[in-house]
Order: sequence, then C-alpha cells, then structure tokens
Amino acid sequence: METLMKKTVFALSLVFLFGSTCYVQSSIAATVDAVTGKPCYKCHASKVTAPFVHSGLADKECTPCHNTTGGNHQSNHSLYAVKDKSSKICYECHDDQTKMKSVHPPLLDNDCLVCHAPHASNFKYQLGMPVKQLCFECHERSLVTEKETKNNSFRDGVTNLHNIHAGENKIPCLTCHDIHASDQLHLIRKKGMNGKEAVTITYTATDKGGNCTVSCHDATSYERK
Ligand code: HEC
Ligand code: HEC
Ligand code: HEC
Ligand code: HEC
Ligand code: HEC
Ligand code: HEC
Repeated sequence: METLMKKTVFALSLVFLFGSTCYVQSSIAATVDAVTGKPCYKCHASKVTAPFVHSGLADKECTPCHNTTGGNHQSNHSLYAVKDKSSKICYECHDDQTKMKSVHPPLLDNDCLVCHAPHASNFKYQLGMPVKQLCFECHERSLVTEKETKNNSFRDGVTNLHNIHAGENKIPCLTCHDIHASDQLHLIRKKGMNGKEAVTITYTATDKGGNCTVSCHDATSYERK
C-alpha cells in the first residue's frame, strides 16, 4: 500500500512537472509483469547485462517478442514464451534480405538464432563466438589451409585463392563476403572493410571461375580448369 502511494505521488508529480500522463508512460519503457508488478528484467537479469546487449532491448522491453499477459507467469512459466522463434520476429524490425541475388543458406532456413543470441552475449552483434571461429562451425578449415585444392571453387587451376587471401594474407572473410546476403553471387559484397581500409569489389562469376575488379590490386580473373 505504501509503495503504491509512493508511486502515485511520483506519477502525479511528473504530471505536475510535464503536464501530461503520456510523458510518464513513455519514460518508463521496461516491460513490467502485471501480476507481480516487477519489471521482467529484474528476474531475468542475464538477458540485459552481458557485455553486448541487443539494441532491440535498449529500454528493457520484452513485448516486441514475448507474450506478457494471460495469467500468472509464476505458476506457468511458459505463458510468457517467445511469440515466434523464426526470423519472422526479427523482420518486425530488420529488413528481410532473402530476395537478394545471393543469400546465405541459414537465412533461407529462417534461422537467425543459429548465429545470434536474441538478447545478449559476450561477443559483438550478440554472436555466439568470434567471427573467425564462427565460419568454421559450418565450413571446413581446409577451405583456407590447403595451398592446393581441387575441391573448393575459389581457385586458379589448383592454386587455392582462399589460402592466398584469407590464409597467408589474413584478409578477414567478411572483407569479401557479406554474411547475410548480396546482390553479387557467392555473397561477394560490393563494399567491405579490410581493417580500417575501405575496399570495393565488382565481381562476376563465369562458368569456371570469376572476374574481379577490386581496389586492392589490378583487375583479375581465376579459372578452375
Ligand atoms: C528481439 C526479440 C526478443 C526480445 C525483445 C526479448 N526476447 Fe526473450 N527470447 C527471444 C527468443 C527468440 C527466445 C527463444 C530463444 C531460443 O529458444 O533459443 C527468447 C527466450 C527467452 C527466455 C527463455 C530462454 C532463455 O534464453 O533463457 C527468457 C527467460 C526470455 N526470453 C526473457 C526475456 C526478457 C525478460 C525480455 C525483456 C527484458 C526479453 N526476453 C526480450 C526473443 C526476444
Ligand atoms: C518474479 C520473477 C519473475 C518475473 C517478474 C518474470 N519472470 Fe519470467 N520466469 C521466472 C522464473 C523463475 C522462470 C523459470 C526459470 C527460467 O526459465 O528462468 C521464468 C521463465 C520465463 C521464460 C521461459 C519460459 C519457458 O517456457 O521456458 C520466459 C520466456 C519468461 N520467463 C519471460 C518473462 C517476461 C517476458 C516477463 C515480464 C512480462 C517475466 N518473465 C517476468 C521469473 C520471473
Ligand atoms: C523491436 C524491434 C527489434 C526486433 C524485433 C529485433 N531487433 Fe535487432 N535491433 C533492433 C534495433 C533498433 C537495432 C539497432 C539498429 C540496427 O542495427 O538496425 C538492432 C540491432 C541488432 C543487431 C546488431 C547489434 C546491436 O544490437 O546493435 C543484431 C545482431 C540484431 N539486431 C539481431 C536481431 C535478431 C536476430 C532478431 C530476431 C531474434 C532481432 N534483432 C529482432 C531492433 C529489433
Ligand atoms: C551464419 C551466421 C549468421 C546468421 C544466420 C545471421 N547473422 Fe546477422 N550477423 C552475423 C555476423 C558474423 C555479423 C557481423 C557482421 C560484421 O562484422 O560485419 C552479423 C551482423 C548482424 C547485424 C548488425 C550488422 C548489420 O549487418 O546490420 C544485424 C542487424 C544482424 N546480423 C541481423 C540478423 C538477422 C535479423 C538474421 C536472420 C534473418 C541474421 N542476422 C542471421 C552472422 C549471422
Ligand atoms: C550455421 C552454419 C553456417 C555458418 C556459421 C556459416 N555458414 Fe556459410 N554456408 C552455410 C551453408 C549450409 C552453405 C551452403 C553450402 C556450402 O556452400 O558450404 C554456406 C555457404 C556459404 C558461402 C557460399 C555462398 C554461395 O552462394 O556460393 C559463403 C561465401 C559462406 N557460406 C561464407 C561464410 C562465412 C564467411 C562465414 C563466417 C563469417 C559462414 N559462411 C558461416 C552455413 C554456414
Ligand atoms: C579475397 C576475397 C575472399 C576472401 C577474403 C574470402 N573469400 Fe570465400 N569466396 C571468394 C570468392 C570469389 C568465392 C567464389 C568462388 C567461385 O565459386 O567461383 C568464394 C567462395 C566461398 C565459399 C563457397 C564454397 C567454395 O568452395 O568456394 C565459401 C564457403 C567461402 N567462400 C567461405 C569463406 C570463408 C569462411 C572465408 C574466410 C576464412 C572466405 N571465404 C574468405 C572470395 C573470398
């Protein structure tokens, strides 16, 4: 009762100061559990405290993705389950890129959560691990480590061009590839960053290879033979 009175006094003083109750509502955005009167994040602190918290949770809001009504959450935890575990929920706020020319297959599976935590994590962009490691959760390391190859596509004859670029010269995968989607084939991005240096790439695939016009070196091509 006392806290309720304090709250009312607080709210009234805000109305007095700003002349409108709308201000009061929009200034307190954190989603509150109606039954206990507690903000959700108080009981679920890990969702908002890891080093990298999703900007979508900046105001500690849960309603965009969770149900927050329907009964007593304490006796039935699943009441407040997420509305949808597929990418659909992400597309409420992020662009759907799956109509682009080249799309990374996990996005076609409607799976953002295979790489991103929805709330927060220890890594930038709420990834489950550093980018360097992430690629090799699903791709073979030999893609980069072998100097000669007949298996991989980015090669000139048997010279493994992934080895030359991403191995010997340590160019990050995401300098050339967009992790989600691109208007150029094989997820080749038009603009990338190599460390602090901006890179432009115009890429066309050919039957047995490709042509690259890049800001890093002269226009060139490769052929698998
Ligand atoms: C951007 C969408 C989004 C927002 C906003 C969001 N969640 Fe979630 N939440 C999810 C998704 C997706 C899952 C399912 C994760 C899975 O099953 O891997 C989930 C699962 C959970 C779970 C159960 C599984 C787990 O990871 O422990 C809890 C608890 C939870 N959320 C709490 C919260 C709270 C509290 C808030 C608000 C402070 C919140 N969430 C805001 C998307 C969101
Ligand atoms: C008084 C503490 C408390 C509050 C407030 C609270 N929760 Fe929970 N919640 C729990 C407990 C305890 C569990 C069960 C253990 C767990 O999964 O963390 C739980 C479980 C969950 C789960 C997992 C459900 C599942 O099926 O696995 C979600 C999602 C969730 N809460 C969302 C929310 C949201 C959204 C709010 C605010 C509207 C909220 N919680 C408020 C204590 C709380
Ligand atoms: C309620 C709106 C909302 C929803 C739903 C949402 N996001 Fe976000 N997200 C944002 C905003 C706002 C930003 C910051 C601006 C930006 O990068 O677009 C952001 C940024 C991100 C970032 C970049 C890192 C960061 O936090 O700035 C990632 C990664 C991300 N979101 C993933 C997801 C995934 C995965 C889902 C679905 C589970 C999702 N988002 C659903 C609003 C949302
Ligand atoms: C295969 C792993 C993977 C999948 C699947 C994935 N992402 Fe990402 N995402 C990443 C990586 C890696 C980065 C960091 C990119 C960088 O460093 O340039 C990132 C960055 C982001 C960012 C911030 C930078 C930007 O591009 O705007 C957002 C927002 C984002 N992802 C949303 C999503 C959404 C929404 C989905 C599902 C539709 C999704 N991601 C699926 C790996 C993934
Ligand atoms: C969750 C699994 C997963 C992760 C993580 C992942 N990929 Fe993929 N990726 C796939 C699948 C599946 C394919 C399709 C089969 C193949 O080409 O290996 C693919 C294909 C590709 C392609 C070829 C696309 C084309 O159209 O030819 C590129 C390029 C690529 N991934 C880059 C990356 C990079 C760079 C990373 C790390 C930043 C990464 N992937 C992380 C699953 C993943
Ligand atoms: C210098 C630019 C460049 C860098 C850096 C680069 N790639 Fe590629 N990658 C390409 C090109 C070009 C192709 C298309 C090859 C083809 O099909 O002709 C490709 C194709 C791929 C494919 C499709 C399968 C295959 O056998 O070729 C995958 C998977 C892939 N890259 C992953 C990666 C990963 C992971 C990294 C980082 C370790 C990386 N790439 C770094 C340019 C690059």
